[in-house]
Amino acid sequence: MLISGKEIMQHAYENGYAIPAFNFANMENLQAIIQGAEEMNSPVIIQTSQGAIDYAGAEYLADIGLGAAHRANIPVVLHLDHGQKYEYCLKAIRLGWTSVMIDASQDTFSENVSKVKEIVKVARPLDIYVEAEIGIIGGKEDDLVSDKEIYTEVKDAVNFQRETMCDSLAIAVGTAHGVYKGEVKIDFTRIKEIRALLPVPLVLHGSSGVPLDMVTKAVHSGITKVNFDTELKLANLDALQRFLKENPGVYDIRKMFKPCRLAMKEVVKAKIAACMSTDKSWIIS
Ligand code: 13P
Repeated sequence: MLISGKEIMQHAYENGYAIPAFNFANMENLQAIIQGAEEMNSPVIIQTSQGAIDYAGAEYLADIGLGAAHRANIPVVLHLDHGQKYEYCLKAIRLGWTSVMIDASQDTFSENVSKVKEIVKVARPLDIYVEAEIGIIGGKEDDLVSDKEIYTEVKDAVNFQRETMCDSLAIAVGTAHGVYKGEVKIDFTRIKEIRALLPVPLVLHGSSGVPLDMVTKAVHSGITKVNFDTELKLANLDALQRFLKENPGVYDIRKMFKPCRLAMKEVVKAKIAACMSTDKSWIIS
């Protein structure tokens, strides 16, 4: 069933596990996430970037995302990931997304604050959950490219949340969007310090390529939502390449994408286990 962000995030925040969030851009991608979460009996966040909306169309993604959520036997949140433009956030809200991220983290502190406040003003009366970001997470996510990385300062996180009243906060603690070039290093102490002072859930972006035990350690340190995208794309690519190599001449898209869906589902299940959200779908019953 479709659910508001607040319900599942609050439960996870209070009970020391995290809600896994996976990006989707097409049907197989979405089915892999929902099926994986159903098999693990876990609540899940399905999320679309602005790039996915440009690719598939907001109305179309709303149709399949909301349809999948309504049919699922687990709690599902439809979330806008890295909404950089006001219009995308408003459109998502109008079409039925139950959670939006307004990402003005590349702007100055005060510009970031004022953009987030604008969205909170619209979203709060409609019961739409609002995620914001402070600090800069490096790497590449769709059209969002950042070659610099600025770790979130504890005092900035506290002041930022106090001023914006955002519902959750993405922080920069060492992860990066996309494929890692070197060894992953996460500042767990910083997560703990921010968590101790902040009254809202923290979000970890760029979690593909982070070893599963480090994901779990981040959750134990105080992370409540973990975002995964690239690893699903890589699993899809790997399965497709293998299929095409082993089955020359096959052109049936159903045959071609079945192993891709399966491969993505296995990634989803492993990430859910690392977030410790297995068997937490009872929270809506
Ligand atoms: P990855 O692509 O590194 O998994 O990051 C996903 C993400 O943070 C989406 O916002």
